[in-house]
Amino acid sequence: MHGNVIVGQSGGPTSVINSSLVGVFKTAKDLGAGKVYGMLHGIKGLLDRQYVDLSEHIMSDLDIDLLKRTPSSFLGSCRYKLPEIKDDREVYDKIFEILKELDIEAFFYIGGNDSMDTIKKLSDYAILISSDIKFMGVPKTIDNDLACTDHTPGYGSAAKFIASVTKEIIRDGLVYDYPVISIIEVMGRNAGWLTAATALAAGEDCEGVDLIYLPEVAFDIDKFMAKVKELGKNGRSIVIAVSEGIKVADGRYVFELADHVEFVDAFGHKQLQGAAKFLADKLGAEMGVKTRAIELSTLQRCASHMTSRVDITEAFQVGGAAVKAAFEGDTGKVVVLDRVSEDPYICTTSTQDVHKIANIEKKVPLEWITEDNTYVSDELVHYIRPLIQAELSPVMVDGLPRHLRLKK
Ligand code: F6P
Repeated sequence: MHGNVIVGQSGGPTSVINSSLVGVFKTAKDLGAGKVYGMLHGIKGLLDRQYVDLSEHIMSDLDIDLLKRTPSSFLGSCRYKLPEIKDDREVYDKIFEILKELDIEAFFYIGGNDSMDTIKKLSDYAILISSDIKFMGVPKTIDNDLACTDHTPGYGSAAKFIASVTKEIIRDGLVYDYPVISIIEVMGRNAGWLTAATALAAGEDCEGVDLIYLPEVAFDIDKFMAKVKELGKNGRSIVIAVSEGIKVADGRYVFELADHVEFVDAFGHKQLQGAAKFLADKLGAEMGVKTRAIELSTLQRCASHMTSRVDITEAFQVGGAAVKAAFEGDTGKVVVLDRVSEDPYICTTSTQDVHKIANIEKKVPLEWITEDNTYVSDELVHYIRPLIQAELSPVMVDGLPRHLRLKK
């Protein structure tokens, strides 16, 4: 028998983040935990004493099946940065007071590199005040930019969706007998893993995209314009993928070259949106052809009707592994995925020190980008391919996927 545990979700959601929530909940229950609390809107909600007893919300095997297939964060999310411990101990004292009130033995936070900052600070503070509470990070992010792990849960499903709709956009984009230039804008911030997934569209039934631009290398607008004009010489349609985070050499994001509204979150991240529109307008104006800017935007992280079974399974596993590790005494760690075999693809879990992961962005290695910076290598495609395999059918009710919603 173990004490009570608490779990929160933080940062941008994914279509499988709730599978990790189920992994924590079910494993904690199976291993004899008392209550499993869920923070509402992560650590920010906990500071306002907003939490639920998850057993009152996940009541049957059907609820578990539905929750796994429900996109976005069931408990709500936040983008909240805890102050440095040396600057404000009051907020930490309040969190530990609330955890004591709830008799918490282990604290789980499902999130990306920003959210792991919370685990880092809380586990550091626990050492400072000699608290026994265990703090474990459960990885998730569609961006796939977490250090020390082969990949992150959430990425495979987003990549599957991106590659699938890219195939569909290519079919549609090449339909007319006059040229159309389609530019697909993909999320991922300063890492190009998601944009690279558009390369998976190419195959015997699909021409693939013509050009791929990742944020790892400076974007040269003049070279881009010249390249597209060259490709468009014979009057054919063109499909291009760009990351939302592409930057010109002076460090400005491409979307910042056009009129835009600036929004910056608590971690100092700008809202990245509009690179495709800027480039499509420029191409349209200079080439006199029809252009389309297609922002995949939130669709790529909430398409739970098209998750990868590999991804949703691993999302569950990392949640379960975090609980097991905490109950065995681990703290200040993050569960990571280790690819132990390529063929057949096999990943196992282990844990890594959160200090090696929090606030660090893992970028696409430059050797996986072609020399002219306009496409990605076969190695990168080979790395992504196993992560998008197999499906988990949605539970369809009245023609639509059924989700589980938190009862208010
Ligand atoms: O953190 C993942 C992510 O989806 C990024 O790819 C994207 O830039 C960002 O979140 C968008 O976040 P928000 O939903 O806060 O605008």
